[in-house]
Amino acid sequence: MRIVFTKDYEEMSLHAAKIVAGQLYLKPNSVLGLATGSTPLAMYRELIRMNRENGLDFSETVTFNLDEYIGLGQEDENSYYYYMYHNFFNHINIRQSNIHIPSGLPENVEEECQKYDDLIAQSGGIDLQILGIGQNGHIGFNEPDIKFEATTHMVKLDDDTIKANARFFATVEEVPIHALSMGIKTIMHARKILLLANGAAKAEALFRTLYGGITPETPASILQLHQDVTVIVEEEAARLLR
Ligand code: F6R
Repeated sequence: MRIVFTKDYEEMSLHAAKIVAGQLYLKPNSVLGLATGSTPLAMYRELIRMNRENGLDFSETVTFNLDEYIGLGQEDENSYYYYMYHNFFNHINIRQSNIHIPSGLPENVEEECQKYDDLIAQSGGIDLQILGIGQNGHIGFNEPDIKFEATTHMVKLDDDTIKANARFFATVEEVPIHALSMGIKTIMHARKILLLANGAAKAEALFRTLYGGITPETPASILQLHQDVTVIVEEEAARLLR
């Protein structure tokens, strides 16, 4: 694992955007695994700027998002579909047909999960996976558990996650309690992984992820077994690492 220490959120985000851009310059038809949440927002902003000003080309890029809330349609402002279009896809030259996000309103959950995994496999697997980390050590919505879930699956969100994500909703009751999430095996099969962490609230989870035992109770700890992970942290999240 490479750990890159940065001084603040901005520097973390610019560094991450450069890695994504480097990937796309080397392989324009890369398959990117994407995250939502607060963490990657400024990275997306920088990638949009690079698309506009530096000619960073997304026309052949394929994307798969990590997760989606169950019960939220595409037009719901809290859906990850809405987040991705609003914060990224609407502003770059990506093809709509190359964008993949699990459905928040699946007719059949098992079929949706299987379809998602099949599509990832047909696309040749993920070249570069972007990850944030939950305060409880989750990646995607793989919550602390007694085992690692391998493939795309339905998750019941932890109370901690619901509380942490309530900041985006009017009330905590509005936060969906279920989500679809890419599984750990799919994430671990990505050729490269970029984990971003900022803010004091992530410090403990990050410490356990990097230096604790490998356990499904800290899902991100599995990343210790991946051969190409870059962790980019800013000062507050890195508090326990030095
Ligand atoms: C979101 C996702 C989650 C977030 C994590 C951190 O697609 O996969 O694992 O990365 O919950 O969220 P923020 O960045 O909002 O702190």
